[in-house]
Amino acid sequence: MSFFINAYQQLAEWRAVIDRLVGFTAAITSAQALASAKPVAVFAGAASELRVEELEVRLPNGCRLVGGVDIVLPRGDRLLVTGPSGSGKSTLFRAIAGIWPFALGRITVPLGAKVLVLPQRPYLQIGSLAAALSYPASPMSFGAQQLRQVLVAVGLPALAPRLDDQAHWGRMLSLGEQQRLAIARAIMHAPDFLFLDEATASLDEPAEAALYRLLQEHLPETTLVSIGHRSTLHMFHRRHISLAHAQRGRPRARALAKVPTVVCDESDGPERRSRQSAGGDDPTGEPPPPRHRSHNG
Ligand SMILES: Nc1ncnc2c1ncn2[C@@H]1O[C@H](COP(=O)(O)OP(=O)(O)OP(=O)(O)O)[C@@H](O)[C@H]1O
Ligand SMILES: [Mg+2]
Repeated sequence: MSFFINAYQQLAEWRAVIDRLVGFTAAITSAQALASAKPVAVFAGAASELRVEELEVRLPNGCRLVGGVDIVLPRGDRLLVTGPSGSGKSTLFRAIAGIWPFALGRITVPLGAKVLVLPQRPYLQIGSLAAALSYPASPMSFGAQQLRQVLVAVGLPALAPRLDDQAHWGRMLSLGEQQRLAIARAIMHAPDFLFLDEATASLDEPAEAALYRLLQEHLPETTLVSIGHRSTLHMFHRRHISLAHAQRGRPRARALAKVPTVVCDESDGPERRSRQSAGGDDPTGEPPPPRHRSHNG
């Protein structure tokens, strides 16, 4: 009896360690199972559209974050994704970009399509400004005159004469300036698909609008998908998806425009129930936000 009294603390510690290891193993098994069922990215030759079919995005623990996403983005289309913080917007982007393994469904990208994703905080390597601006291409890929012109166009004229300056640009420039630089990169690279994850959120509204107008002017053929919070962004997009949190922090998705969305109910744990809404049917009971057409029609 005295053994148990003396060893009680040690036994409790062992039990805690075993519980942690069991939980860890279960999490790894669950994540591996989900990761092995990742969406198939098919690179089709013929179509020029990006097609997302029955995409369901999950968390590593198996909980459904966003589901039933069906999007067809024709060449030059512009889609705005909105929703409160934590509703799954960036994770949806990661899944579409093929870097989020916890997802199911099918994504078809046109063969040889150039895809560029701009995050809120761009990656700017230490080195010359020309190299930072040309990334991921080599600075030799563009002419100095071209680089200077694009810097002026995005509102960074003071940097135009400094292409050969070496610096830690990510530390030196303000976040708004870094975002201007990232837009300059997008213009230089002219991708077929451009994903902007709050990539202009640190700029004031007029500056953000000016950059979107610049993108429309320079990249009229590029398919644009933006995540953003500001209502002023609607005018630069033709379509809109809203991912919404319901009351008490449960994630629910709300589909507007033509995009049906299956929704996760957090109260059900990893095997969550789903609800479905489509074509502006709003489960939150809120009036749908207005839809706008982009300047390009
Ligand atoms: N690697 C991860 N492991 C576990 N949970 C994650 C992981 N990445 C994201 N999440 C969770 O997924 C949810 C959605 O995150 P996400 O970054 O997609 O939100 P968001 O809508 O982009 O938010 P914000 O507007 O703040 O950028 C959050 O609750 C987040 O904590
Ligand atoms: Mg995000």
